[in-house]
Amino acid sequence: MAVRACSLLLILASAHAFIDEAVDVLKLGKEIGEEVLNSWDILGKPLNLSGGVDLPVIRRRERMVLGRLAEISRKIERLELGLEGTRAVAMLIAKTAGRGARLELRLHEMADLLSRVAVADLQMREYVRLQKELERSTLENFALWCVSHDSTSLPGLLERVHSLIAPPHKHLLGRGILNLVLDDLQEEHPDLCELQLSPHQLIYDMYNTISLTEIKGYAMMQFSWMLLRIYGKGNFTQEASLTRQRYGERTSRTAAAARAALAMARRDLYRCDPPQHKLGETYEEVTRLLQGYIENEVDMNSDNTCRENCAHYTLAEHHTCFKEQFCSKQPACKGRIIDCNYIDSDMWICRAGENSKRRYEWIEYENGRVLGKAGSCPRGTTKVDSWWRWLFWHCSYCMCLCDEPGLNSHRYFSLWDSTSDVNNNKVVTGLRLVKHGRVFHLQISEGTLGERGSVSPGSWVPLQKFDVTDPGIRDGVDYHTMSYERRAIDLDELDSPTGYILTGVRFRMIGAHLHFEIRSTPFNYTTGRLAPGRSHWISNDNTEGGDVPRTELKLHKPDIPTRSTRALPVDSKHDQYIEFTHSDFDADAAQSTVPFVDIQPLEPLKGSALLSGAGIMHRGARGSGGFVAAKLFTYDYSRHVRAELPPAFVDPEVDKDLVLPVSNN
Ligand SMILES: *[C@@H]1O[C@H](CO)[C@@H](O)[C@H](O)[C@H]1NC(C)=O
Ligand SMILES: *[C@@H]1O[C@H](CO)[C@@H](O)[C@H](O)[C@H]1NC(C)=O
Ligand SMILES: *[C@@H]1O[C@H](CO)[C@@H](O)[C@H](O)[C@H]1NC(C)=O
Repeated sequence: MAVRACSLLLILASAHAFIDEAVDVLKLGKEIGEEVLNSWDILGKPLNLSGGVDLPVIRRRERMVLGRLAEISRKIERLELGLEGTRAVAMLIAKTAGRGARLELRLHEMADLLSRVAVADLQMREYVRLQKELERSTLENFALWCVSHDSTSLPGLLERVHSLIAPPHKHLLGRGILNLVLDDLQEEHPDLCELQLSPHQLIYDMYNTISLTEIKGYAMMQFSWMLLRIYGKGNFTQEASLTRQRYGERTSRTAAAARAALAMARRDLYRCDPPQHKLGETYEEVTRLLQGYIENEVDMNSDNTCRENCAHYTLAEHHTCFKEQFCSKQPACKGRIIDCNYIDSDMWICRAGENSKRRYEWIEYENGRVLGKAGSCPRGTTKVDSWWRWLFWHCSYCMCLCDEPGLNSHRYFSLWDSTSDVNNNKVVTGLRLVKHGRVFHLQISEGTLGERGSVSPGSWVPLQKFDVTDPGIRDGVDYHTMSYERRAIDLDELDSPTGYILTGVRFRMIGAHLHFEIRSTPFNYTTGRLAPGRSHWISNDNTEGGDVPRTELKLHKPDIPTRSTRALPVDSKHDQYIEFTHSDFDADAAQSTVPFVDIQPLEPLKGSALLSGAGIMHRGARGSGGFVAAKLFTYDYSRHVRAELPPAFVDPEVDKDLVLPVSNN
């Protein structure tokens, strides 16, 4: 149900959402307020009749007013035009919409009301365009509808929209729609992952949609009063003033409700599981970090003896290949051999293909225990039997871990900064983890920051590629090599302080941990100018040894995450870390390295969203290795949401009675 309600919400939000260019509703509302004021001014001035009397006075004034109205309509239209792009997504989602929930009913009502106002607005634009051909009575009727007390008239529609946002009697109608939306969105939402929207963005877009409708309604009503005055229906100064007052009340309450909802709405944004996991497209793997490895004890000491048992070999290496046994049929571990264990004496081993990341597909012991998923074996199984030496010593095959850096092991992480071009006013608009060759990188997309929180759509900043063998490239400086001792990655979620924006990310080493950091740059919301000189890096330097130690996210018998039949939820939180390790022995013969790395690009609103923070998180569950993935925080708009009362246009004495309760801003 939650999902359906959300789908509907998306339609609603997308109808007008995603404010383009430097025009936002706040600015538009202000402009239109001034425009209305000027129009009343014109109306108040005596007309110059000396120019000729070919046109009746009325017609001339009518034209003047309609001319102004046309100008305003164009402004509204321009704002709406930038928003068309997102509708396709909304249509797609519409298919899944159901019915029934309280929120859903309200959303339906809201959508209906908004569309009725939109239709009236369209009609008005048409009338303005055709004004010469129209009878005066047509315009007059329309103007009357726009200011009528009837509940189906324009003021009635706007009041009903408003009562959905701020119910007049809290106990009768319950919570406002923004709060219901918020409740609904605080749970995990596959829809939001899919569309890459944070709940905060959705609510902000919904607020903009409603505000735009209010602005349209206000313009229509004010111009209707003007027309009615021109047509000699009355003075209407007082009525127009009341319209303005009511508009002011509604918009400031809406803004207050939006601010409250925005302050509580989650701003985090991440990808969920894709419909299908595809290597190289949705995920990548660290490979052969600690890999299950069968070795006979006789090959792990320099004397070729079997005097110990498997558990003795906690840290060993491959010395020889005694008598061309199984050791001659597999590539030896040329690194360290760690944590050996005895499982059973004799086994069948299904070796993996030459180019596989695995050594073995599966292993079946004579006692019936199977490591990995037994199945067909294209290369044929190999019988591997331990043996006795002089009846005293058992030369056992041990199950160990092989830690072998090198060409076949992808275990490197770039330590280079990924930053946007702040000198050209560019900010981060997207983030992803990528693997190039054997090296993992953080890659960002960047877009140009504009006025009032607008961002021109971004593009991916080309990777600074390198291989660890390139000349001048140094371990610990340019890249980090994971190993048995150094395989932790910190899971932190970092946000910029107020007034700052995200302009970069990087990995750095803190002790043995790969550690994530963001770069923040201050900016002026009004002008969109960055202050590059005041950029700084932000990180959570807490360690396992801190006063409140960083906690470990432990994996429980982790299988390969792509085998999971259900979607993996986010299971990490800020100030944790996780260690890359081998997959479970029983589930996978310890052949893979988990967690996997999610490489799905994270780019909200196709790269034109304002972002303030980023993080590294883990999606997973018991029995799965899960995925390490990037996340983002969208910018907190709540500070910039406020209602401004349009300027007064009546005598100061009259206006005094109409002063509104001051809003928080
Ligand atoms: C009125 O219009 C005439 C001709 O269009 C012009 O010459 C005159 O200056 C105008 N008077 C005022 C007060 O604007
Ligand atoms: C309209 O009414 C206001 C006060 O209610 C008055 O000041 C103004 O002169 C009137 N205008 C006209 C054109 O009658
Ligand atoms: C942002 O820029 C505007 C215009 O230059 C300026 O008036 C305002 O004070 C600036 N705001 C901040 C917080 O610096």
